[in-house]
Amino acid sequence: MKILAIETSCDETAIALVSAEGDLKRPRFKILKNLVASQIKIHAPFGGVVPNLAKREHTKNLPVLFKKVINPQSPIFNSLDLIAITVGPGLEPCLWTGINFAQEIYRKFITNNPKRKIKLVGTSHSEGHLYSILLNSKFSTLNSKSLFPAIALIISGGHTSLLLMKDLANYKKLGETRDDAVGECFDKAARLLKLPYPGGPEIEKIAKQGNQNAINFPRPMLNQRNYDFSFSGLKTSVLYYLRDNKNVKIRDVAASFQAAAFDVLILKTLRAVKEFKAKSIFISGGVASNFSLKKNLKLRIKNEGLRVNLFGPKKKFCTDNAAMIAVAAYINYLQNKNHRLIATGNMTLK
Ligand code: KG4
Ligand code: ZN
Repeated sequence: MKILAIETSCDETAIALVSAEGDLKRPRFKILKNLVASQIKIHAPFGGVVPNLAKREHTKNLPVLFKKVINPQSPIFNSLDLIAITVGPGLEPCLWTGINFAQEIYRKFITNNPKRKIKLVGTSHSEGHLYSILLNSKFSTLNSKSLFPAIALIISGGHTSLLLMKDLANYKKLGETRDDAVGECFDKAARLLKLPYPGGPEIEKIAKQGNQNAINFPRPMLNQRNYDFSFSGLKTSVLYYLRDNKNVKIRDVAASFQAAAFDVLILKTLRAVKEFKAKSIFISGGVASNFSLKKNLKLRIKNEGLRVNLFGPKKKFCTDNAAMIAVAAYINYLQNKNHRLIATGNMTLK
């Protein structure tokens, strides 16, 4: 099956062409094209994503990327089975830009050709992050008996969710953030430290030179026996610390902040692993590209003597991309599941 996927939920315009095969026990993917037009430079002066500017950029970038990824007159276009478009969660004006573009392609190149059986399907951005781990080639070498049950941690600018997966098709949300997402918290803390947007990679970079024990920032909800998170208080603690202290070493603030945020993520993930006797941990989303997080998670898995596989996608598939949207569309297709072609900004994982 060949899938053309389009992603415009936030500040990256992305289009990918992916071939997929296999069943829910062992799906396999080959990325034929994967392009991302980043808008970071445009939003950086504002310290965050400006929805109207993002929408304008998507409108400009989509036809350019489409042309680079596929020629609608080519045999490969004629061999497409699915066109997958992100319908939520995200910024609604941006989501609509992608949906309208996908519908336009469909009308222009497909509807008039009655022989074509291509389906246009709505896809969840959150499921895109969740299933992005399937782009890790190690995944297809293992059988599902040795992988599940699994605990999935999705951490990005818009998500902080912990899920229990019985298998690829069946997941249940154990907890999520009650306020800011962890990536959002990195971005806000970075702004307080006068670091450029997006803040996550900047904090990771300078935290390497800092002392993570220099400041004892709070570990919100660490001791609550649930799987929810809260990050807005941690950001406020950084604000108060900077207000109340002179001659602050930014690198120590960054290292201590990062350690506090990751402590909570790691502890709750490992608590879930133990409670549900999970055989794997899947981490995905922009924050999962943080090396220190993966290093600490591995260390604690070892120290606690847990026998659990840790999987994450490659860095380029942690942050927003369209290959992961193709993967999620295929997993949904295998289950006969579909999302409506309506932009849904606050769409949640069930
Ligand atoms: O997955 P993503 O590209 O978009 C969303 O769906 O939100 O994630 C972007 C988020 C931003 O908040 C960014 O600061 C954060 O992921 N991020 C990181 C790192 N790289 C990106 N956070 C911590 N460490 C990183 N290395
Ligand atoms: Zn994302």
